Amino acid sequence: MLAAYYETPPLAFVRSYGCQQNVNDGEKIRGVLQDVGFGICDTLEDADLILFNTCAVREHAEQRVFGNIGALKKLKEQNPRLIIGVCGCMAQQPHIVEKLRQSYPYVDLVFGVDGIDRLPAMLAERLRRGKRYLETPEQRNAVVEEMPIRRDSGFRAWLPIMYGCDNFCTYCIVPYVRGRERSREPDAILAEFRDLITKGYKEITLLGQNVNSYGKGLGNPIDFADLLNLLCAVPGDYQIRFMTSHPKDASRKLIDTIAAQPHMCKHIHLPVQSGSNRLLQQMNRHYTVEQYLDLVDYARNKIPGVTFSSDIIVGFPGETEEDFEATLELVRKVGYMQLFTFIYSKRNGTPAAKMPDPTTHAEKAARMERLLRTQDEIAFAAIASMAGQNVRVLVEAAGRTPGTVNGRLDNNLVVEFPAPEMLIGQWARVNLTGSRAALLTGELVDE
Ligand code: 5AD
Ligand code: SF4
Repeated sequence: MLAAYYETPPLAFVRSYGCQQNVNDGEKIRGVLQDVGFGICDTLEDADLILFNTCAVREHAEQRVFGNIGALKKLKEQNPRLIIGVCGCMAQQPHIVEKLRQSYPYVDLVFGVDGIDRLPAMLAERLRRGKRYLETPEQRNAVVEEMPIRRDSGFRAWLPIMYGCDNFCTYCIVPYVRGRERSREPDAILAEFRDLITKGYKEITLLGQNVNSYGKGLGNPIDFADLLNLLCAVPGDYQIRFMTSHPKDASRKLIDTIAAQPHMCKHIHLPVQSGSNRLLQQMNRHYTVEQYLDLVDYARNKIPGVTFSSDIIVGFPGETEEDFEATLELVRKVGYMQLFTFIYSKRNGTPAAKMPDPTTHAEKAARMERLLRTQDEIAFAAIASMAGQNVRVLVEAAGRTPGTVNGRLDNNLVVEFPAPEMLIGQWARVNLTGSRAALLTGELVDE
């Protein structure tokens, strides 16, 4: 037990940045730390160990982490026994490790995305020898099972089904930091899933950078739709979400499965990135706008009430006004309920970083504004038109208005309604009465 190195039980603060995959890694880090005797705290000042589990997808995220690390210098001066660690996707890049080594001498531990299971050994080394432990990033491309986990929620859980990515979209750093695509064995996923349902979890979100290519490389032939059927056979009152789906691999079979399985939420996150075929090709996305729209149409016909959300990059190198207008056009055609929009961020080491990028940041920001306005117009109207429906929701959290809670609909929209916080983690029936921007409002119905 590492706790033996401390006079009072030590406390760890773990902060995760970025995607759900990383949030789930953060839950594993907390689980591993708890296993070796750490308590978990949520204030930096109380911590004996601070770990930042970082994201490298955009430069802005990296800058924020460096800012946050800088702010720890004072804490370290006040408490020299404090251990500071940096892990996750940023720590998987040699130039970042070098920067931490040179310019942040008070950072004690650095390890990449594959290092979580070795964390106790690294900590022991640090505590026993007092030496800094800065791992040279290597990719093990491993699937480590049976890791302890401390989940943030008692009713919603992340469940990774695969790791890494082989798609090499030209703007994206993920394949370089998270390594090659590898799927977990269906038996291991099913066992974890069953365990979650037995423990009373009501919503399970299956995670992977591209869940649609699940199963490649496994001994027995299985694809993502087969996996969904396997999981949906487990009895219980629960719902399943998944992310992320790459449009190039989203099959008709998958859509049919979502339509047929009542446990599947009727919402598909389907990142399109751009509405210009020219840019989609430059991005190495392997689909056209026409193919994407065909898929959306097919799903709309098969799954009544299905909603879509998407990721869009504005200002990819060489994006013209015409390309951008094609994106607006696509957004209007699909009618997304939610959009996650990003201004292109140059990532060194990716092919797009070498492409000419003459558009100024101000122009890109102006395009982003137009995209957001277009999206809001469409989504707010669609959301407002839902008033009058009676829906079942999973109550997630306290609402912003005092005395209310927020519930998430099967289609991923959120409704705020007056109810006691006691309902958090429970199903509820709600009459939708109206909306404020993207937020639905409603009334609890007694069942
Ligand atoms: N710049 C901006 N956005 C990016 N994304 C990935 N890489 C970049 C980048 N370099 C976005 C994509 C992806 C989402 C998770 O992040 O839209 O779908
Ligand atoms: Fe990045 Fe493309 Fe892989 Fe998604 S599919 S993680 S955008 S390379």
